[in-house]
Amino acid sequence: MAKRNSGNPNTPERVTGDAPSQLERHQDPGLPPHRPRLADKDPKAANRAEKQVSILFIVSIIGTLVFFIGYFGVDISNDVEALRLQNMLLGLGTAFAMLGIGTGIVHWAKTLMPDHEVVESRKPITKEADRADAERIVGDILDESGIKRRPLIRNTLLGAMVLAPLPAIAIFRDLGPLPGDKLSHTMWDEGVRLTLDPSGTPIRAADVTIGSAVHVIPEGLKEAEHKLEEKAKAVVLLMRLNPEDLDPSEGREDWGYEGIVAYSKICTHVGCPVALYEQQTHHLLCPCHQSTFDLTQECKVIFGPAVRPLPQLPITVNSEGYLVAQSDFHEPVGPSYWERG
Ligand code: FES
Repeated sequence: MAKRNSGNPNTPERVTGDAPSQLERHQDPGLPPHRPRLADKDPKAANRAEKQVSILFIVSIIGTLVFFIGYFGVDISNDVEALRLQNMLLGLGTAFAMLGIGTGIVHWAKTLMPDHEVVESRKPITKEADRADAERIVGDILDESGIKRRPLIRNTLLGAMVLAPLPAIAIFRDLGPLPGDKLSHTMWDEGVRLTLDPSGTPIRAADVTIGSAVHVIPEGLKEAEHKLEEKAKAVVLLMRLNPEDLDPSEGREDWGYEGIVAYSKICTHVGCPVALYEQQTHHLLCPCHQSTFDLTQECKVIFGPAVRPLPQLPITVNSEGYLVAQSDFHEPVGPSYWERG
C-alpha cells in the first residue's frame, strides 16, 4: 500500500513510497530524434543556406550604413521634411541592422550548425589540463559552428557585428557639447510680432479670446538660418485669462496685455513641448512626465519633476494692435539639468 502523503512538500514521503518519484515523473525528455536537414544531405543546399545567412548579415551592414547616411547626410537645420526623412532613415537603418544579425544567426543555427545534443558536465577548473580541455572544447565549438570552413559567413558576420554598435556611439555624440549660453538667446526681441505656428500669421490682441491657447512662433522664423533650432528655443504658448485671475509679481505687472500672457513651451524638466492647457484650472501640463504649471502663479510648478517655472515672455501690443515681444526671455529656456551659468 502506498504511504499517505502529509501534504508538506518538505517531508520525505513526497519523493518516496510506491508512487513514482519526482525524478521518474519528470525525466528530461531530451531532444527529438535527429532528422537530417536538407543542408546535412545536400552540399548544394548547404551552400545555398550559407549564402542566405551571408545575405542577412549584409542586410545588417546595409542597415547600419543607412543609419549613418540619415545621421550625417541629411541636413535638418531648416526643413521639417528633412527631419522626418532623417527619423525614417535612422529607424529603418537600426531596425535592419539588428534584424539582419538576429535572423542571420537564427538561420545559420537552424540550417548549418550541428543540432545534436551536447552534454558538458561542470567541475571547477583547477589544473592546466582542465584549461587545455576548455580550450579544446571552445575549438570544437568553433569547428562545429562551421565558422572556419565558411569564410563567407565569417566575413559578413564580422562586418555586421563591427558596424552594428557604431550607431549607438553616434547617438551618444548628441549628448554634448553643453549648450553654454545658447539657451539664453532666442529670436524674440523688442517689437518682434507674435505669429501663429505654423502659418506665421501675426496675431492681434483683439482676436485672442478668453480661455484660448495659441501656439506661437516669432515673426521671421521661416527666413531664419537654422530654422528648426531657433524654433525649438523660441516657441511659446499664448493664453488669455480674466486679468483678475492673474497675480503678477513685482516687476512683471506689465509683462502681459489685458490678461494675455506668453510662456515658453519648452518644459523645464527635460525639454518636451508643454502642449496641454486645462482651461478651467489654468494649468499647463507636460505630457512627458506630467509636470504641471500654474498659469495664475506665473507658471510655478505645482506637480511633477520639473523644478523651475516656465520662463515668461514679456509682451505688449504695437500701434496696429498686433501682439509683440517687449524683449527676449529674461532667463534661459529649456531643461535645467546642466550648469546654466
Ligand atoms: S519633460 Fe516635461 S515633465 Fe519631463
